Amino acid sequence: MYYLSLASILLLTPNILSTSAQCVTPNPTPAANTDFNDNIFFFPAADAVEWKTLYARSLQLPDESLLMTWENYAAEPPLVNHPIYKSTDGGATYSNFSAVKDQVNGWGMRFQPFLYTLPQAFGGYAAGDLLAAGVSAPESLTGGVYIELYASTDSAETWNFVSHIAYGAGPEIITSGDEAIWEPFLMMYNNELVCYFSDQRDPAHSQKLVHVTTTGLKTWSSTIEDVSYYTYDDRPGMTTVAYIESTDQYIMTYEYCGSANCTVHYKMSSNPLLFNSTTGIALVGNDTAGTVPYGSPYIIWTPNPSNTNGSGVLIASSGSTEQVFINGDGADPTEWKVVDVGQWSAYSRSLRIITVEGNKKLLFGNGGNMGNPDCNSVANGVIDIPY
Ligand SMILES: *[C@@H]1O[C@H](CO)[C@@H](O)[C@H](O)[C@H]1NC(C)=O
Ligand SMILES: *[C@@H]1O[C@H](CO)[C@@H](O)[C@H](O)[C@H]1NC(C)=O
Ligand SMILES: *[C@@H]1O[C@H](CO)[C@@H](O)[C@H](O)[C@H]1NC(C)=O
Ligand SMILES: *[C@@H]1O[C@H](CO)[C@@H](O)[C@H](O)[C@H]1NC(C)=O
Ligand SMILES: *[C@@H]1O[C@H](CO)[C@@H](O)[C@H](O)[C@H]1NC(C)=O
Repeated sequence: MYYLSLASILLLTPNILSTSAQCVTPNPTPAANTDFNDNIFFFPAADAVEWKTLYARSLQLPDESLLMTWENYAAEPPLVNHPIYKSTDGGATYSNFSAVKDQVNGWGMRFQPFLYTLPQAFGGYAAGDLLAAGVSAPESLTGGVYIELYASTDSAETWNFVSHIAYGAGPEIITSGDEAIWEPFLMMYNNELVCYFSDQRDPAHSQKLVHVTTTGLKTWSSTIEDVSYYTYDDRPGMTTVAYIESTDQYIMTYEYCGSANCTVHYKMSSNPLLFNSTTGIALVGNDTAGTVPYGSPYIIWTPNPSNTNGSGVLIASSGSTEQVFINGDGADPTEWKVVDVGQWSAYSRSLRIITVEGNKKLLFGNGGNMGNPDCNSVANGVIDIPY
């Protein structure tokens, strides 16, 4: 993950820049409950700072309404928060609904929001209650950092602090040796909630990937490694995990920065708490060009729309390509098909299967790219599930 400054980011990550989403003429607002791409629904204020917007994350409520949140670099004060925007027309338009605000640190909710619906009653909350994780750090990025857990019991209208998931001494900067933590990703497994994240606190690694678990949302385990590399400067980052129902396997994607140039990698495991014992595989397209995705990956699994036998499709996104990479349940390294989907790339473009008037669709959430921050805005897209 990269937050030091624009100049350092341009030096560090030439590979993941994309020009496609920058400073474009907005498309017309789509009709309600239709398919569309590149639909900008939030422009940052003119005085927004840093990246202005990045890293959009979505959720769908049972009534088919959609929520979107993102890193929102509004000028401070007031403290930054993670906005919750809501759509009731299949993502065509959104309006401000609520916000996940820092209730405990006086720092703001600054980086990498993540939204999750509890699939079961857990930790005093009901199945269907909502969780929001995110990074709280001071505007100075010094003096400490928490990955936080908030919850909503009223369908995202209000949010309340639940627990600190992890703490780092900071600074919240990507410099090796700074005790920073980034990019939470939540998933229930075996009656525990898992939070995967990127961890700079181990003096043996510039950054590694870890997870912590909780049985009741209040306290969290010590960290367990998921990906670390022998070379100190290697920086695996940005975990996402998907459950492959048909085979009862889990897949995690990550960017492998450092010696692998931020290329997208993945691991497979029957136990999502034991990724460390499996080997990372480079994700490379099986097109003639051998398209290589770089940076900020996202992976989901969904039943294949073309059959009813339960087999599915893996859909992977990256920060460098507009196309997605799709594969069958086994994630065969030679079978990542490169599919045009007509959606700008973004850092980091999120994927979610949603239901629009009863039909399964693929939703993209874009917060902009790490090019010119003045061109960042929040956009979405809704398309048929590629397979
Ligand atoms: C959205 O509404 C919330 C209150 O529900 C408010 O705190 C927040 O500042 C608003 N966000 C924007 C971007 O206007
Ligand atoms: C990374 O890219 C550099 C040039 O940009 C190249 O020299 C090097 O071989 C690449 N490394 C890997 C592991 O792809
Ligand atoms: C995780 O895997 C790496 C690479 O195989 C290894 O060096 C490291 O010791 C493992 N970590 C733990 C805690 O087992
Ligand atoms: C399910 O159907 C697909 C074709 O749509 C086929 O490729 C796959 O092998 C089938 N899986 C099983 C478990 O039968
Ligand atoms: C790429 O993989 C897909 C399966 O995901 C397969 O259908 C296709 O034939 C492969 N393409 C090539 C060129 O091998």
